[in-house]
Amino acid sequence: MSQPTSARALQFAQGLGLRVPLLMAPMAGASPVALAAAVVQGGGMAGYGALLHGPAAIADWVRGFRALAGADAALQINLWVPDPQPVRDAAHEARVRAFLSGHGPEVAAEAGDALPPDFDAQMEAVIEVRPRAFSSIMGLPSPTWVQGLRQAGIAWWAVVTTLAEARAAAAAGADAIVAQGAEAGGHRGAFDAARARDESIGLLALLPQVVDAVAPVPVIATGGIADARGIAAALTLGASAVQLGTAYLHCAEAGIAPAWQSALVDNPPEATRLTRAFSGRWGRSLATGYVHAAAAPGAPEPAPYPVQRGLTAAMRKAAEAAGDVQHLQAWAGQSAALAAPWAGQSAATKTNAAWVAALALLQAG
Ligand SMILES: Cc1cc2nc3c(=O)[nH]c(=O)nc-3n(C[C@H](O)[C@H](O)[C@H](O)COP(=O)(O)O)c2cc1C
Repeated sequence: MSQPTSARALQFAQGLGLRVPLLMAPMAGASPVALAAAVVQGGGMAGYGALLHGPAAIADWVRGFRALAGADAALQINLWVPDPQPVRDAAHEARVRAFLSGHGPEVAAEAGDALPPDFDAQMEAVIEVRPRAFSSIMGLPSPTWVQGLRQAGIAWWAVVTTLAEARAAAAAGADAIVAQGAEAGGHRGAFDAARARDESIGLLALLPQVVDAVAPVPVIATGGIADARGIAAALTLGASAVQLGTAYLHCAEAGIAPAWQSALVDNPPEATRLTRAFSGRWGRSLATGYVHAAAAPGAPEPAPYPVQRGLTAAMRKAAEAAGDVQHLQAWAGQSAALAAPWAGQSAATKTNAAWVAALALLQAG
């Protein structure tokens, strides 16, 4: 079978100018130009997590990407919709700083003041460079920005983690919905940070219900998909395309810390954890020594996002320099080890091969 399944996916891919319906997940801090260009070479779509980049860095990244992949190469740029201002508690932050100083360098008193770049300025930069798609996570952009994207001819995709979020995104006019299952590596995209852990839904339950709820809006599946079986399954469940994150972190072009990359190879699905310990927002990481220690009885609750991100910056930087995976911010999805055969391989080869194998499964079905 499933002619309708592969036809739906190929039609969606064609609309984006892709040969294959596979997308590189946008990954803040792990979306190098070389990886994005390799995915395009393999027939898929590049992803760029621009959260930590200001307008000049966004323009630079896109210039570098287009120099390598071609001026018209298909690209998704992603930004985080800002959370409400965090409530600060100086006494509690001092306890977190003392705890972190036991896991890395001394944490400066002002470390928690660090802020991500201004969202509106980032949005202006995105509209200026005109990617094929812009994706939002952690909430919905304002109607003014949705209109701005539309006027610029940029498709707006909304990452969702629940049915209610999917319905809200469709009602707000999203051109596609990215259904993020709880298996996903990196931050969970819950609109309300406080609900991100309790409302963790596996992709097998989330995806078909989102597909039904938002039809005819196309749905992109992401979270725990790391081989041809997962791709074929997600398309069978109604997805129009599949987005891979952790799988690409194995590739030669990923450029992540070697200690993180090698730890992904044989990491079983039970050895990841949802944690707030790196940024203050729930995300899925390798179950490292620091992640366990931060969840142990007596450890101080992490500060809210983005305060915790600032507080952990020194530890993360020192761990990266030392190649210490136990204190690195080592995001990983539950299917990390499934993509072990991708280790050291080019994302160009793997993207194309994964689609050929998935198509064979769909046609054999
Ligand atoms: C290192 C890393 C960074 C990520 N950063 C972002 C981000 O900035 N924005 C976003 O929408 N999703 C981000 N994600 C989530 C991915 O877009 C995607 O949902 C996830 O990787 C899919 O699950 P998988 O890793 O199991 O393939 C990140 C994931 C990883 C692994």
